[in-house]
Amino acid sequence: MHLYQYLLTEKKLSKKAIHQLIKSNVICINGKIATDDKIEVDGLLHQLSIRGENCGLTQHYYYMLNKPQGLISATQDKSLPTVCDQFSEKIWPIGRLDRNTEGLLLLTDNGQLSFRLPMPQYKVEKTYRVKVNGLLTSKEIEQFACGIEFYSGICCAPAKLEIIYANQNESEAWVTITEGKFHQVKKMFLAVNLYVTYLQRIQYGPLKLDHNLQPGEFRALSIEEVKMLWDCAQLQY
Ligand code: URA
Repeated sequence: MHLYQYLLTEKKLSKKAIHQLIKSNVICINGKIATDDKIEVDGLLHQLSIRGENCGLTQHYYYMLNKPQGLISATQDKSLPTVCDQFSEKIWPIGRLDRNTEGLLLLTDNGQLSFRLPMPQYKVEKTYRVKVNGLLTSKEIEQFACGIEFYSGICCAPAKLEIIYANQNESEAWVTITEGKFHQVKKMFLAVNLYVTYLQRIQYGPLKLDHNLQPGEFRALSIEEVKMLWDCAQLQY
């Protein structure tokens, strides 16, 4: 959360009091004077003190889930199971995976991070393993590299396509994109007349899917992994 929000809601300080504290240079974060109350803070990464006294900053949660097929990327649903059902914490997914997509999904209760990471301007790379119902060739590699145009006319940023194997009836590849348009990977292949039969996300920014996680299993991110995500979202720690 923002330092300002923390001081307002957790410390019950008034707007005026917060302004005064900032102006008096008495708020320190990790030993450095805080001159701006709009910075993101997290007890996992920061130590906050006011006039030399340590404050217990709230810690955010950060998880990597190996999403199985069948779950929807939402916090709740009337009839379908969601990726949040097995968590007791109030967290939500960073971006979305389709119901029939498997693989790496990050979940957090950090609003700033989950808002920023999926935004195209941060150019966070997402890599998928994909199977399609036909032949992939160097022609598709070039088309992806130039930027695919959907049937609707929407244009995608250049993407990297690496073929694992290619046959007349089925091909497998890795595709890396920097955006998160709705059903993006499926629509990119549709634009080159191929149908996605299997989709798994194997990497999100610097984080690779942890192979120790079976589908449906999750683990907390390490502090180093959290820092890497903060870097991607251009947040200071
Ligand atoms: N692209 C898709 O089409 N589906 C996903 O779940 C993720 C990316």
